[in-house]
Amino acid sequence: MYRLSPETDADTPEVEALLDLCFAPGRTALSSYRLREGVAPVRELCLTLRAGASNGGGSAGVLLAAIRYWPVRVAGQKVLLLGPVAVHPTAQGEGLGGLLMRESLSLAAAMGWQRVMLVGDAPYYSRFGFSRLEGVEMPPPTNPDRVLGLELEPGAWVDLRGTVTRETAAANACPSGA
Ligand SMILES: CC(C)(COP(=O)(O)OP(=O)(O)OC[C@H]1O[C@@H](n2cnc3c(N)ncnc32)[C@H](O)[C@@H]1OP(=O)(O)O)[C@@H](O)C(=O)NCCC(=O)NCCS
Repeated sequence: MYRLSPETDADTPEVEALLDLCFAPGRTALSSYRLREGVAPVRELCLTLRAGASNGGGSAGVLLAAIRYWPVRVAGQKVLLLGPVAVHPTAQGEGLGGLLMRESLSLAAAMGWQRVMLVGDAPYYSRFGFSRLEGVEMPPPTNPDRVLGLELEPGAWVDLRGTVTRETAAANACPSGA
């Protein structure tokens, strides 16, 4: 049995440890992290997946996977930046990454977000509908082939081009006006 919950402050050290385990050293030097600095994540979409049943609100149960999202802008438009997503090495290939992806993307659509982007492996993310974003530039160094997008609302990426910029700290992460 699994328990899917929004990430809380109490979860964060464990999530960071999981990310350290799953990614190469120096992960925070990646350009995506520059876009997250000083910006609040989209809390409702940052999810943890633990083994075991609920214990009534505590954080017991081994952390198996986590996903996070931040708001960014492209040409002034609000965009969700997906990532990082990580599954514990002992639980990879069991569908947990897919579960987190589908669950969080469906929540994002229900919240009114129109478009999502990420930097990652197209062979994995294409199964969720992501494809290469032409003309959307991440801060260097980023391989353009890894810049992928998904429309949660039809046409949301059409004609949207430009450099990905950090959300201003003062801006609300709510998608209204996206
Ligand atoms: C990538 C990751 C999140 C996928 O989660 P998962 O629970 O292992 O994946 P799922 O069980 O949902 O899906 C497994 C499928 O994805 C494929 N897959 C996993 N990682 C892949 C990758 N990087 N590229 C292409 N395919 C990949 C597997 O081959 C498998 O394919 P199949 O369904 O055809 O057998 C997880 O493996 C992970 O945490 N990896 C280390 C951190 C990482 O690379 N994060 C993503 C950054 S781009």
